[in-house]
Amino acid sequence: MRIILLGSPGAGKGTQSKLLAAHFHIPQISTGDMLRSAIRAGSPLGLQVKKVMDAGSLVTDDLMIQLVKDRLQQHDCAQGYLLDGFPRTVAQADALQQDGIAIDYVIEIAVNEAEVVKRLSGRWTHPPSGRTYHPVFNPPHHAGKDDVTGEPLIQRPDDQEDAVRHRLNVYHQQTEPLIAYYKTSTRQTEKEQVPQYIRVDGGQPVAEVQQQILTAVHSVAAD
Ligand code: AP5
Repeated sequence: MRIILLGSPGAGKGTQSKLLAAHFHIPQISTGDMLRSAIRAGSPLGLQVKKVMDAGSLVTDDLMIQLVKDRLQQHDCAQGYLLDGFPRTVAQADALQQDGIAIDYVIEIAVNEAEVVKRLSGRWTHPPSGRTYHPVFNPPHHAGKDDVTGEPLIQRPDDQEDAVRHRLNVYHQQTEPLIAYYKTSTRQTEKEQVPQYIRVDGGQPVAEVQQQILTAVHSVAAD
C-alpha cells in the first residue's frame, strides 16, 4: 500500500494520514512534520528551513527529494508508506518517477478555501507527534492539551493569516498542477503499474472523509 495524499494546506492531509497509516499499518511520512522536528532539534537542516517554513514558502526541491529518498530506504517502508506533503511540485513528482518509486494510490482531499481558512485559524498542534486539533471540528478532551500525552498544544507560526494566504497561493501555483499530472498518468497507461487517482470531498467531517477514502481504495483494489 503506497499512497500519496494531495490537498491544499488545511485540507486534512495530516489528520487523514494518521488514521490511514494506522489502518493499513504503514508509516506516515509527513515532510512538514520531519522539517518541524528538525527545527525543534536545532539541527543544521532545521536552521536552514525555519525562515522559509514560517513564511509559508516551499523548501527547495533538491533538499526535499533527498530527505524523502533517504526516509524511504528505511526498513519500515518495505511494506508500504503514506506520503503526506510530498510531492509538492512537478519536479518532486518527476523525481519519484525517475527513481522508480512505486505509488499505488494518489488521493486528493478537496476542500474549499473558506473552509481551509476556518480550519487553519483554529488549528492547535502537538509538535512532537504532529497530532492536530480544532476547538470546533476536532476538539481535544481537555482544552490546550494533547489527548495522548497531556502535553501542551501550540499554534504553528505558518498558521498566521499572512502566511496562510501565501501558502494557498503557493499551493495553487506549484502543487495544484500535480492533480492533472497524476490524473493523466492514471488514464494514459492501462497495464503498467501506475497510481490510481481518487478524489474525495474533504469538506465532510473527519470520520466521513476517512470512510470515503477507505471505500474508494477497497473498490479500486477489488476491480
Ligand atoms: P505541511 O506541514 O505539509 O503543511 P500543509 O501542506 O500546509 O498542510 P497542513 O499541515 O497545514 O494541513 P493538513 O492538510 O495536514 O491539515 P490538518 O490535518 O492538519 O508543510 C508545512 C511547510 O513545510 C510547507 O509550507 C513548506 O514550507 C514545508 N514543506 C513540507 N513539505 C514540503 C515539500 N514536499 N516541498 C517543499 N516544502 C515542503 O487539518 C487542519 C485543521 O483542520 C486541524 O485543526 C484539523 O483538526 C482540522 N480538520 C482536519 N480534517 C477536518 C475535517 N474533515 N473537518 C473539519 N476539520 C478538520
